Amino acid sequence: MATQSALINVMTAAARKAGRSLKRDFGEVEKLQVSVKGAANFVSAADHRAEEILRAELAKARPGYCFLGEEGGRHEGTDKTHTWIVDPLDGTTNFLHGIPHFAISIALAREGTVVAGLIYNPANDEFFTAERGKGAFFNDRRIRVAARKRLADAVVCCALPHLGRGDLAQFRREFAAVQDKVAGLRRFGAAALDLAYIAAGRFDAYWERNLSPWDFAAGVLMVREAGGYVTDLDGNERTMEPGDVVAGNETMHGDVMALVRAA
Ligand code: IPD
Ligand code: CA
Ligand code: CA
Repeated sequence: MATQSALINVMTAAARKAGRSLKRDFGEVEKLQVSVKGAANFVSAADHRAEEILRAELAKARPGYCFLGEEGGRHEGTDKTHTWIVDPLDGTTNFLHGIPHFAISIALAREGTVVAGLIYNPANDEFFTAERGKGAFFNDRRIRVAARKRLADAVVCCALPHLGRGDLAQFRREFAAVQDKVAGLRRFGAAALDLAYIAAGRFDAYWERNLSPWDFAAGVLMVREAGGYVTDLDGNERTMEPGDVVAGNETMHGDVMALVRAA
């Protein structure tokens, strides 16, 4: 990946180091499955370890930047214009169950606008990166959202909220409305990768409610840089506030948003 910018190089190096730690821990999880509690505690420790590595590596390369991590919360830096927004392990449930679909997500916000994003799945070594105004990449290849225009051809990704996470009856109505129209529905379990897959044209559309900034900060930039559309379910620009996300190419974004809103 010789053509990467210095900033993406910094993010890649930090992700690789934290990724090695996650991969080691992923290998251990299976051995712990006998004790559910043991495995859950171990995964939470793995999560914290990865975040600490990311914070240390990013701080070494860019001293003074602020840092917002899912596990450790906000750490103020001397440079208030820059904030790293990090999910050290997105797809925790997959990780805990030995399913190799999880990711590190790193975004850099400059004065509140995300200018760079990286999403990395250490289990299969897939890197997705984007910089504002410079496009989105899968490893070193430029990526674009899918061109499909008909819902009947579309593979759409969503969440399956569980008990205690939002309005399940409402979700079932949304799910049924979309299921009626599309070629396939998927629930993969890592929001950052869902957005990266939209950017790479693997999924045609995606919607989910109740997301946090570390879930979508990098992915939203990636989808836009891949020529796609991302908003909340009211069609508003996605800010750093927690909330819902809908993404796809212009047609799919509009069609899926309309179905979900009408449900
Ligand atoms: C979760 C995953 C999941 C999404 C949840 C997130 P975590 O993040 O992204 O796909 O449906 O809303 O909280 O807890 O694994 O970092
Ligand atoms: Ca997450
Ligand atoms: Ca997480």
